Parts: sequence; structure tokens; C-alpha cells
Amino acid sequence: MPASRRGSGSVTLPSGQTLAVHTRTQDEEDLPHATKKTMADHLRKYESLFTLTPQRMRMIVEAFKDTLELGLEKHGQIVPMIPTYVFGWPTGGETGDFLAVDLGGTNLRVCLVTLQGNGKFEITQSKYRLTEEQKQEDGQKLFDFCAECLKLFIDTNFEPGSIKDGELLPLGFTFSYPCTQDRIDHGVLIRWTKGFGAANTEGRDVAEMFRQSLEKQKLPVHLTAIINDTTGTLIASSYVNPRTKIAVIFGTGCNAAYMERVGDIPKIKNLGIDDDAEMVINCEWGAFDSFEHEHLPRTKYDQTIDEQSNKPGEQAFEKLISGRYLGEILRLVICELIDDGVLFLGQNTYKLEIPYAFDTAFLSLMERHVFDPTEELLMIIGIFSHFFALETTLAERQFFRALAKLVGRRAARLSSCGIAAIVSRKGYLEEGCAVGADGSLYNKYPGFAERVHEGLQDIFGDKGRNIITYHAEDGSGVGSAIIAAMTKIRKERGLHAHV
Ligand code: BGC
Repeated sequence: MPASRRGSGSVTLPSGQTLAVHTRTQDEEDLPHATKKTMADHLRKYESLFTLTPQRMRMIVEAFKDTLELGLEKHGQIVPMIPTYVFGWPTGGETGDFLAVDLGGTNLRVCLVTLQGNGKFEITQSKYRLTEEQKQEDGQKLFDFCAECLKLFIDTNFEPGSIKDGELLPLGFTFSYPCTQDRIDHGVLIRWTKGFGAANTEGRDVAEMFRQSLEKQKLPVHLTAIINDTTGTLIASSYVNPRTKIAVIFGTGCNAAYMERVGDIPKIKNLGIDDDAEMVINCEWGAFDSFEHEHLPRTKYDQTIDEQSNKPGEQAFEKLISGRYLGEILRLVICELIDDGVLFLGQNTYKLEIPYAFDTAFLSLMERHVFDPTEELLMIIGIFSHFFALETTLAERQFFRALAKLVGRRAARLSSCGIAAIVSRKGYLEEGCAVGADGSLYNKYPGFAERVHEGLQDIFGDKGRNIITYHAEDGSGVGSAIIAAMTKIRKERGLHAHV
């Protein structure tokens, strides 16, 4: 009997594709499907695998605090706790025009930021999509591409003659990968993350490599600072909301930055910087528990992702949390149930068997009620039929949604553990603080922020309510400009050498 349709509609996905959805009035199928009871049994198993109890979370926080401490004490630790040479908070009064190039996990962005003072700014920007090949080819070619995009941007946005002969525009380079820094305009790439693998770049000063590319284009710019996105987010957020003490990114990758007293960073004591000065620390916490895997609750799906990644053993915390991996975790669970003969018997599942075919955006669509108000779970029908040519029953769709919740909730609760470790290290709990957060997961995944807050209360009890995350300012563009402005002011005042 042909399936009858009750409702239909369409939704635009983050990728720009339009997805048509429809629902049926009957669930009778001519294909063998798992029953409600079977799916409920399986769900119980996954619940116990993916659920983090408050007690387990507190243990993770303790281990996290020790790791942060160790990174500040000694050079070359797994969580490197990188001194950024960004000193102190902005006053909000910084002004001027600044360029920023932002090499993120997915896009390249070029911005012109005008800081107007009083915490206000204007921004003009262009985005360029990075191809998978660009992420893997020679690093110098990648920086050449950045310089070409910057040239195009300057040619388009500046009137001929508006940049005087010999004038150099200050440029901040937001490079969101772990780099050791000796100065603000220098950064040696420790390792690529987020699936990048461009050759001849790890172990080299990326600021110098980018300068060479800028010279080839003869651009009227001066690279003044190399900045991590979390550092930029901390500074930009504090520019508009001075209660901000921590910045976190939950996007393709995952990381945090906060302000540390120089006297509490033993590994740079020898530099003779005033103990009471404050400096932003880029934690690079995505590397927490890498290699040893002692503290985090990794399932066999997480282990598979790790083993099949281009960097096995690395970024252990990030691989459980960030947007790059959540869809893949869910896909691996589904594939296991296909292999066990539980799901999609008699259907061709090859599209779902392609690694990384299940985008994290699908998880957030599956969880989003506002798009999917019917009990039939229209959105999930649409995702499976449109992208994977698979028929689903209501029981399966309910299972998929519940599974998405488990994976998304675990990511958010682990994120709370990282935030809690910084909060307790810095003693921010009693007084409370704001945490500027950015990234696709934080901004687009339904309920992510609420789950982080719930996690903080599970860790700290009621006082956890004192720690509030909020959607941060654009750190990679505006933050980079403010840091360039702060650096210029420090130089003009002749403040110590490590600018
Ligand atoms: C990188 C960090 C970055 C984070 C968020 C991680 O993979 O190592 O430097 O801040 O992603 O973009």
C-alpha cells in the first residue's frame, strides 16, 4: 500500500541545501524494522555509556586543575597553557582602523575593524571557504592563499590612493591552532588540529611564513600580532562586557583562554616581567588527557574516531566535544546497529557508511523542536530519506533523537568540567563571572548553553549559577583588532620588550 502523506514542508540547512520533509499517517512498512522495545533496550545501553554523573564530573575537574597547573609550571606539557604576551584587559577606549585575517577550521575571513572607543566598533568582512586540499597541501601555499585573499579585500575595500605611500596598516593574524609564543608577533605551530595537516608547517614560526606570503603580494600591511581565537574572544568580550573572565570556543575545535597573573606562571619567571602584570593564557585544553587517556570517559566509538583521525592520540578532550566529531560519533553508533542487524535491514546503507557523512548540524536539527513540532519527527524522516536514502519508523526516529541528546549532552557536560577547572583555579565561584562563548556548537546546537549551565550546577551545587556563559563578541575579527590596538599603545609607551 503506498504511504499516505499528512504534512510536508521544507527547511534550509546550514550548508545552504534545502531539505523537503513529509510525514505518513501509518507506520506499516514493507521493510523489516526494529520494534519500539528493541530500540528502547538499545537506548538504555547507550544511556549508561554516554551519561556523566556529577561525581565523575568532579573527578574530571580535579584532574583538569592539576593539568592546568602543570602546563603553567613547565614548558612542553600536553596541555601547553600558552603565554600569549597579550597583557591585561582592554580599557574600551582603544580606537583606530585594523585589518584582521582569521584562519579558522572551516573558513578564511578577512576583516577591516574600526574601533570607535567606548566599547563600540564597526566591521567589514569577506569570507572564503577553505577546500580540503588546501588544508593538506604545503603550508606556505596556504599562507599564500591567505595573502591573496587579503590583497583582494584591500583592493575592493580601499579607494585607490587612500593608503599613503609607505603607510603600513596594522594586521592581526588569528591563527587558531596551538602555537608557542616568545612574543606577540611570533608563533611556532606545535601541531595542527581540526583535521588540518598542511606539510612543512609544524615546528615553524607561522607569523614568519605569513610575512613571506604578504611580501610576495607587496601588501601595505604590518603583521603586529598572532592571536588564538580564544584570546581574541576574551579580549573582545571584555571590551563590551567587563565581567567576562573566561572565553571558550565550541566550534570545529574546542579551547579556552583566561587571564593569569604573571607571578603564577612559573615557566616564564626568568623573563623578568612584573609578577603583578596580567597575561592572557591560551590553554589549548582540547589536548587534555591526550595519549594517556586516564581521565575521560571514552567509548569505543570515541576510540575509533581517534584511531582513524590524522592525529591519533591527540586532542582527546576536543574529540569528545567539538562540532567536527559529534556527528561522526552518532554515525558510528548507528553503523554498529546496522552491522548487528538491528537497523535498516533490507535497505542500502552505503551513504551512511561513509566516514563523516553525518554532519553535526544534523544532530542539532534532530534535537530542535521548533522545526519539528509534529510527533512524527518530520525532520528526522527528511534527514534520513534525503541524505541517506533510508526509510525510518517512528520508533527508530525517537531512538535517533534520544541518541543525539546523549551525545550532545555529554559534550556540554564535559565542557562544564573545563570551565569549572578554570573557575576554581582562579577562585571566581563566589563572586561569579561571565564566560564569553562562541563557535557553531555553542551558537547553533539547541540547549547546549543550558546543558553547560546545568553541568556547572552539578559540579558546584547552587553556586554554579554564578557562572554564566553568553554568546561572545567576534574574537577573531574584533578581538584581533583590539589586541593590535593594545599592542600599538604598549609599544608607543615603551612598555617592556615582550610586546
Ligand atoms: C585549536 C585551538 C582553537 C580551537 C577552537 C582547537 O583545535 O587547537 O587553538 O582555539 O580549536 O578554534
